[in-house]
Amino acid sequence: MMHSLVVVAPVGRDAQLICEFLASLDVKRRPYTQLREVPQSVLESASVLLIAEEALDPSTVQHLSTILQDQPAWSDIPTIVLTGGGASTDSSARLVRMREPLGNVTLLERPLRSVTLTSAVRTALRARTKQYQMRDYLAERKIMLEDLGKAYAALETTVAHRTATLRNLSQRLLRLQDEERRRIARDLHDSTGQVLTALKISLAVFQQKLGEEPSAKHSLAEIISLTDQALQEIRTMSYLLHPPTLDHSGFISAARWYVSGVAERSGIKADLELPTHDFRLPDTVERVLFRVLQESLTNVLRHANADRVHIRFFAKEESAILEVADDGDGIPPDLLARLQGMESDGGVGLAGMKERINELNGDLELNSSSRGTIVKVMVPIESATSGSVPMSKESAQVTL
Ligand SMILES: Nc1ncnc2c1ncn2[C@@H]1O[C@H](COP(=O)(O)OP(=O)(O)OP(=O)(O)O)[C@@H](O)[C@H]1O
Ligand SMILES: [Mg+2]
Repeated sequence: MMHSLVVVAPVGRDAQLICEFLASLDVKRRPYTQLREVPQSVLESASVLLIAEEALDPSTVQHLSTILQDQPAWSDIPTIVLTGGGASTDSSARLVRMREPLGNVTLLERPLRSVTLTSAVRTALRARTKQYQMRDYLAERKIMLEDLGKAYAALETTVAHRTATLRNLSQRLLRLQDEERRRIARDLHDSTGQVLTALKISLAVFQQKLGEEPSAKHSLAEIISLTDQALQEIRTMSYLLHPPTLDHSGFISAARWYVSGVAERSGIKADLELPTHDFRLPDTVERVLFRVLQESLTNVLRHANADRVHIRFFAKEESAILEVADDGDGIPPDLLARLQGMESDGGVGLAGMKERINELNGDLELNSSSRGTIVKVMVPIESATSGSVPMSKESAQVTL
């Protein structure tokens, strides 16, 4: 881009002469006799202003300083003022007053030699070139930042979209898992359970008919006992799997009923600590809490090898807290670390619990040592939809 040099000198052909002086410079020279004649666009796009002192009076200084103050941040047009020469204090004071509003001003005293003027203008052009480079750099950076902003926004949209898809998928999986479990529990209870019951009855009839042959009687008693065991296991399993309908009973009474059923069928000793008054939480919260109870108890029976399980449900600082603690063998430390990081290493049980609790903005803690395992979930009662009833902090302990 070619530089433009605006020259303003009111007397005779001064402006023309100055331009001729500067013929050696590769710039577009624009001579004017009055500052007011210079179009604003020419002033604004000037690389350097060269102004004879006579062209400056208070109103032109004002006009010029307004334009110079409005420059963009990168721009500071170098201005060279050709002074009248001599040492009049009046003139000097005037020049000092003028320098302030105009800013980037160099004073050159006349009479001038061509070489002095050329070198001053050259220096000014050089400084202006640097300013243009800064302008270009800033413009490029702005475009880059805009592009970056657009890419970031696009990325955010994609992430939000994928997160929503994944969340939908995991909710669907959990719903399907519920349905599947309900079906398996029903099938186990209704078909396999019935078959085993029929087998037990037939065996009892057979036992009566068998008479007193001792070894056959012994074998048969063993078969009957195994059948009983299978029947009990199937009942426990289908009981553990089948979620009760919480609609009528609510979490607290369903928990009481469920835990006593599990204790009765499996023989594990269960301590249950519940608030003394029954109350209801929103359906979604109750369903998730029950599922946590169900999964945790299933894990205790399947993995812990425990004699005792302690279940606590209580309220503390706007949260409902459910804790299931067993006195079993505990989770091996390396598996525990992976499960605490929720790497997909375990089964669906703990991961599903975590997912459901997250959806309620709650928290799940898993702690384990060789003395047993504790699963603790906290659900904010506020986050639950309306209808939550303040929880009584008293609790009652029942040993089953
Ligand atoms: N109370 C516990 N005591 C000892 N180990 C446990 C206990 N709970 C969980 N675990 C260990 O953590 C693992 C992961 O549990 P999780 O419930 O996620 O899966 P799972 O019970 O193996 O399978 P799923 O629940 O899908 O049927 C279990 O396989 C088991 O090794
Ligand atoms: Mg499990």
